[in-house]
Amino acid sequence: MCGIVAYVGYRPAVAIVVDGLRRLEYRGYDSAGVAAVTQNRLIVHKAQGRVDEFARGLPQRIAGTTAIAHTRWATHGAPTDDNAHPHTDSTGRVAIVHNGIIENAGELRAKLELEGTVFVSETDSEVLAHLIGREVESGSSDLATAVRNALTHVVGTYGLAVLDAQRPGEVVAARNGSPLLIGVGPRETFVASDPSAVVAHTQQVVHLDDGEIATLRPGTYSLMRDGRATTRTPVLVDVEATAYELGAHEHWMLKEIHEQPEAVERALLGRLDDRFATAHLSGLALSPREAQAVRRVVLLGCGSAYFAGQLGAQLIEGTARIPARAEPASEFRYRNPVIEPDTLYVAVSQSGETYDTLAAVQEVKRKGGRVVGVVNVVGSAIARECDTGLYLHAGPEVSVTSTKSYTATAVVLALLAVHLGRVRDLSPADGKRLIAGLRALPEQISQVLKIESQIAELAGAWAQRQSVLYVGRVRGAVVAQEAALKLKEVAYVHAEAYSASELKHGPLALISPDIPVIMVLPDDELFEKNLGTVAEIKARHGQVLAVGHSARLADRVDDLLLVPRSEPELDPILLGIPLQLFAYHAAVALGHDVDRPRNLAKSVTVE
Ligand code: F6R
Repeated sequence: MCGIVAYVGYRPAVAIVVDGLRRLEYRGYDSAGVAAVTQNRLIVHKAQGRVDEFARGLPQRIAGTTAIAHTRWATHGAPTDDNAHPHTDSTGRVAIVHNGIIENAGELRAKLELEGTVFVSETDSEVLAHLIGREVESGSSDLATAVRNALTHVVGTYGLAVLDAQRPGEVVAARNGSPLLIGVGPRETFVASDPSAVVAHTQQVVHLDDGEIATLRPGTYSLMRDGRATTRTPVLVDVEATAYELGAHEHWMLKEIHEQPEAVERALLGRLDDRFATAHLSGLALSPREAQAVRRVVLLGCGSAYFAGQLGAQLIEGTARIPARAEPASEFRYRNPVIEPDTLYVAVSQSGETYDTLAAVQEVKRKGGRVVGVVNVVGSAIARECDTGLYLHAGPEVSVTSTKSYTATAVVLALLAVHLGRVRDLSPADGKRLIAGLRALPEQISQVLKIESQIAELAGAWAQRQSVLYVGRVRGAVVAQEAALKLKEVAYVHAEAYSASELKHGPLALISPDIPVIMVLPDDELFEKNLGTVAEIKARHGQVLAVGHSARLADRVDDLLLVPRSEPELDPILLGIPLQLFAYHAAVALGHDVDRPRNLAKSVTVE
């Protein structure tokens, strides 16, 4: 949510930061802007709209080897030219780009206005520019100290990069609750809100911690915390620049749907233990005795991460026979939950930045609970906040809509279920069966992807509908919820998920030829019951598209997508995949910009 990139080095800075903005655009695409220092003057360009449009409007060549840039997802103030970042102080000496929310911006703004400051935007961020400008003008010894002094007035979260026209060759960055990293190359240094903006130039990075302020000069950086110098050596970011390239794919969402076989393979790598028919999860750091002592599991996440958590809860309860449930982290954090010492809390997040999930983790920890993170982004805030963790290793997820990380999360939670099961009553035979099922998933996902043209044709035909009902029972119910979310997000088609068993308690009233039903129909112990639901829908002239295993369904439903059979516990993982493609192709058929769904951006780092 919002992207920051900054450069200080020896090459023309604007070209580098604008290229970085293109790579960060998935984090926000309302407006873009850049500020550079040229001959001790700030040059600022910013505009509402997409990065490409913005870049086309820039002057041919802007001199200067120091620049900061931003791509915005509007929170405070509409997406206008004035509200776009960078923001400058009244003298035009200082420019800032900011991610996060300044909670006391109203109060600070009122105070500054009383002192005569004129604001030109409606944003909370502009107060930072004026506060820092005031400190610089009052003669702070250096820019980092000016930033530090200014931040003492601020309540809120920030990832911040600052330029001072009088200090060319220097950028100051500060972090509190909003991710920021430094990239270090020979004779050049970068700041970015995520590695995608720098990996084309360097893989040596330092992840800033909350409370740290960094001063960057070409090829060097220094850090301070609470006014004292600190040191940290860069680490190698384990992502190739090509991972952030779209290649021959038309959209990131489609690319990542197709990357799922490899993502699952990576999630499983080194974790299947054939000898003891269990999963080897060193990151969990639970001794067998501690694992035995777990009485309950609570999974916390938002959106697709929450739905993956629901799949995980079913897997854990079904396999390990430990009561397990998932809850939206956004609700959990506000309801003063009871935290129990023998409950294992699992925080699920692709980005590791989702503010609600982070706050839920903090709430659990504050009350003495134990939290395991199931996170994709290494070194992210949630990963660091949790006691222990299991990384997904799904590779970078650029699409705003989550697909491969959802699937990889379900796989990692299945591993956790097997692991917890095998320290309890899951038999070696069942452990072996599930491990074989997990091992077969990458190949089976590839098979599902082969029916894409059939799915695209159906999605094209269904895309014109006003509303779609997704229905499933028990395992299928979770698949239905995630699939409905996908359709809403990218196709903007109203979609509702309902459990098949609840239909007759009310929503059956909706069934008519106008509201088609997508039914998740695995060939499991509930198959016959689900056929009963199909009959109820058909009797009311409903149209049914089934996703299932059995060709027997063909003459009972209007359309059928067949997927390979897995182990019953793992079936939901495969059944979800055609419905990701369905949402994607429905959105394409409707002409939507799949990678920039309206009103959304990647990583919800605000409340
Ligand atoms: C849905 C989607 C969102 C995220 C949610 C949590 O396609 O992408 O619902 O799943 O915002 O994000 P993470 O997993 O980064 O915590």
